[in-house]
Amino acid sequence: MKKQFFIANWKSHKNVSEAKEWLSEFSILNSQPSTHKEAILCPPFPLLPLCHTFIQQHHLPLSLGSQTISSYPEGAYTGEVSARLLKDFVNYTLIGHSERRKFFHETDEDIAQKAMLARSHQISPVLLLNDKNAAIPKGVDIVIYEPPSAISSDKGIHPESPEDVDTVAAFLKQKSSVIYVLYGGSVTPENVQEYTRLSSIDGVIVGGESLKPDSFASIIQHA
Ligand code: PGA
Repeated sequence: MKKQFFIANWKSHKNVSEAKEWLSEFSILNSQPSTHKEAILCPPFPLLPLCHTFIQQHHLPLSLGSQTISSYPEGAYTGEVSARLLKDFVNYTLIGHSERRKFFHETDEDIAQKAMLARSHQISPVLLLNDKNAAIPKGVDIVIYEPPSAISSDKGIHPESPEDVDTVAAFLKQKSSVIYVLYGGSVTPENVQEYTRLSSIDGVIVGGESLKPDSFASIIQHA
C-alpha cells in the first residue's frame, strides 16, 4: 500500500486552550497508528511545545511540522525561529506557502535557503508549489501542489480538478527527484478520496477543515 500524508495547517488560528481541546478530541477519534498513513500537525509556533508534549504523553499517531522556518541560521535575527530551535519539536516544515510568498514577500532564494537549513537540521522540508514549472530546491522529497485560487479562504471554494492534479503530480515526479506529491486547496471529508485514489497523488494538506478535529480525522479515514 502506498504511503500517504495528511497535513493539518492551522495557519494563525487557535490559542492554548483551543489547541488542547482539539488534541483531546483528536486523540479519541484517531488513536490507531497506521503504517501507511502519516498525519502531520502544523500549528503556530507558540503551540509547538504544548502539542509536542501532548503527542508524546498520549502516544498520538501524529507528527509535528512548522508552518515556516527561518531562512537565517541561529543568530542576531530578531523575531526569527531558526532550524536549530525547531528541530527539538518538529520533523517537518512547510516552505513556500503561497500566503508567505504573498504577504511576507518570500522569494525562491529565501525558500531554497530554508530548505537547505531545514535539511541540515534533520527537518524534512515540504515545499508548496503553485506552478508546476517552479524551481524545486535540492533535498526536497515532498511537494504540495496548491493553486492559490483553490484555497478555501481565498476566493471561495473551487478546488482544482483531481485529474488535473494527478497529471501535474506525475509530471513533477518525472522531471525532478521528488518522491511524494500532495494536493492542497479546499480539501474536505467529502472530496478527499477523489484525490487520494489517483495514482500520483500521495496525500493532502488541509487548512480550514483541519481546524475541526472530527473533519481532519474523517479526511484521514476517508482517504
Ligand atoms: P484550505 O487551505 O484547505 O482551507 O483551502 C489549505 C492551505 O492553504 O494550506
